[in-house]
Parts: sequence; structure tokens; C-alpha cells
Amino acid sequence: MPVCDLDKRAPAGKKVMGLDVVVWWDKNENAWKVFDDMCPHRLAPLSEGRIDQWGRLQCVYHGWCFGGSGDCKLIPQAPPDGPPVHTFKKACVAVYPSTVQNGIVWFWPNTDPQYKDILTKKKPPYIPELDDPSFTYQMFCRDIPYGYAISPTYYHGYGIFFMIKNLTLSGGAPIDINIEKIHKNGFTANQSYGGSKFVAPCMHFSVAEIPVGKSARKQPRMLFFVFICIPVSPGNSRLIFIPGRNFGVWIDRVVPRWMYHIGQNLVIDSDLYLLHIEEKKLMEAGPSNWQKLCFVPTKSDAKVVAFRKWLKKYSGGQIEWGNKFNASLPPTPPREQLMDRYWSHVVNCRSCNGAYKGLNALKVALQVFSVASVAMVAATKQGMISVAARNTLAVAAILCFVGSKWLSHFVYKSFNYHGYNHAFK
Ligand code: FES
Repeated sequence: MPVCDLDKRAPAGKKVMGLDVVVWWDKNENAWKVFDDMCPHRLAPLSEGRIDQWGRLQCVYHGWCFGGSGDCKLIPQAPPDGPPVHTFKKACVAVYPSTVQNGIVWFWPNTDPQYKDILTKKKPPYIPELDDPSFTYQMFCRDIPYGYAISPTYYHGYGIFFMIKNLTLSGGAPIDINIEKIHKNGFTANQSYGGSKFVAPCMHFSVAEIPVGKSARKQPRMLFFVFICIPVSPGNSRLIFIPGRNFGVWIDRVVPRWMYHIGQNLVIDSDLYLLHIEEKKLMEAGPSNWQKLCFVPTKSDAKVVAFRKWLKKYSGGQIEWGNKFNASLPPTPPREQLMDRYWSHVVNCRSCNGAYKGLNALKVALQVFSVASVAMVAATKQGMISVAARNTLAVAAILCFVGSKWLSHFVYKSFNYHGYNHAFK
């Protein structure tokens, strides 16, 4: 999860690799903690709880409190003169080793104590550009209704989409992509507009230099895209997308993040339904048969082919969910639900959530002003105010009404649902 979208005052529940976890800020240790999202008492989700005044994670069902090591600090129902049941091992919550790197909370998905210090030895993939002050970037996170194995199809195509979609009517052009050797830790790809790499198991990084002719700049203009694709459950994944650049840095100081997110959601929605269906077709035929099913004769598909080879070689062509799920995908909901933006993004994004609330409040204010203006015009007897003032009020009422209607449409399309019909694009 990007730290910028987490709230230190409230725990947040997430599903990752089929695990239900809660992320919360431990003010006593100044660190984000990742726990099993399950109270040891009667299994209530701790993500529905709160942080108490001592900075402990409190389950709201019966009030048990937990410290940053998962230790139970308080069982309100236990008599003070009785046995110290809160110190029993069974009163503790399982803790995942976690760390913050590049502004993202990472965790090791195993609570076995043998992995307690694993993150000192095995670090998440590091992106130097995200800690380089000469670059600017915005984080974007969205839950996606297709699986981890399909998502690379999306992000391997995104750079291509971004570079050439507007250059050709068909949205495509030949791209020469060459893959270096595929190994356990991923692979590197060289392409005409820059380089990229897949860092196994979940990160894709691509960088491109923008040709600008003669320029006074000492540094070349660089553009990068980071995609982190998180497996959630069969048919569901989470995408963290981070586009960045080392030019026009000032723009990000004035343009709020939610404005970028409208465009990024639009790009995701543009092929969301296609990829959702692709996954269904693939599952029907058996996911390890990808190479037999798909016809990929050009080099522009080289990265998707390489990813599929990597997945087949190192994971049998699919994710091993253990006994958490059966192999089937969830049914396809109505399109409005499938492409919903509010629950998959807005509610978890601090910038979009703020804009959503602010614009809705503005919409209501415009409606109130419009109705009040009409009422004043109607109530004012002839002669009490000038004709010019009456006309101004009437025009203001109309403008506010039209403005509120437009805003309502804008908010719905930007933050709830944007139907995407390729035939009319
Ligand atoms: S279920 Fe959490 S305190 Fe009872």
C-alpha cells in the first residue's frame, strides 16, 4: 500500500495473496505494522477497530488491545486479580515482518517467527528514482477485477499504449522489443524507446529518454513507469502504478493527484473488460496453455511472452493459492460494478476521496444557492429590488442549477463509473 494513502489514525484492511491483513500505524515504535486481520478472541476483523489513546490497536468487538509486537495488552473482561490471561500466547495476534521502502508498505507473507528478521536480508525491489529529488511522481493504487497473471498483459502494453496510441488510428505500430535471458529474478527488455525490466515476482519498471533536440539542460529528460502488481485472490489483483519524470516537476506542486488519477483510471478502464474476459477464456482452456492458445507473432508481444515463460517455468503457469481457494474465477458482475471506481480506488485514495467529498459539497451548495435565488426572486415584491438585481438573481439561479448538473455528471464519471465504448472513441 502507498503510505500516502494510509491514515495514521485508523487501521486499514487489505487482502494480499489470499491473506487478510490489517495495516496500522504504531506511534510507539514509529512504524507501520502488518497484522493478521483477525482478533484472537472471536475472530472479528481488527481493521474495523481503532487506535486507542495509548497507540494500541483495539478490537472494537470486546475491546482487546494489542501492541506493535502483536502482544495483547488488555482484556477488559479479565478481572484484575485473576490470572494474567492477556499474557497467554493464544491472546497474541500474528505479525507479518514489514518495512517501508520507496513510500510503500511491504510485508513478508509469513508470520512464522523464523522470518522475523527476513527483511534485513531480503529487501523489496528498490527504485532509486523514487528517492531522487530531481524526479516527481504520483502514486496510484487500484483494485482490479482480473488476476496477477493477466495484469502484466496490461502493464507491458501500457508503455506501448502511452507512446503510440495517439500516433496511429489503429492504436498500434511495430515495436522492436528484445528480451535478455529469462531467469528466476525476472528479465530485462530492450526496446526502441528505452529499456524495461521485470523484477520477479511483481514489479515492472520501464524508463525512456525524451528526445528534445538541442536543450540547455544538462540532464536528459527521463520518464519512468513503475507497475507493482499484487495478487489478491483468483480473478482479483491490486495495481500500484507510479509514473514519474525529471522535467516539469513544478506541475505536480499545483496539480492535485486526483486530477492525474482521472486519466489513469480512464486508461485502466479502457481495457479492463477485455482483460477480465481474456482471463476467463484462459481459465477455461487451462492457464498453462497460454502459449498454445494465443497467437503472438510480433516482437511487440515479447515482454508478455517472456512473462508467461517465466510464470510457467517458475510457478507452473499460475499462482499457487494453497488450499485457500479453488481454481475457479468469480462470476462477472454487471459492467457498472465490474468497472466501479469508487470502491476499487476512490475510497482508498486520500486525494480522490477528498476531491469526491469536496465536489459533492460544492454540488449541494450550488443547488441550495439556485433554489434560494429562485425563492428570493419569487418572494420579492415588485419594486423592492431593482429589475437588474432580479435579473441577476434569476441568471445566477440558472447558472448554479446548470453548474450543479454538470458537476454531478463529472463526479459520477470521474469517481464512480465511466462506461467505455471503443466503437465511439
Ligand atoms: S473479537 Fe476481538 S475483542 Fe472479542
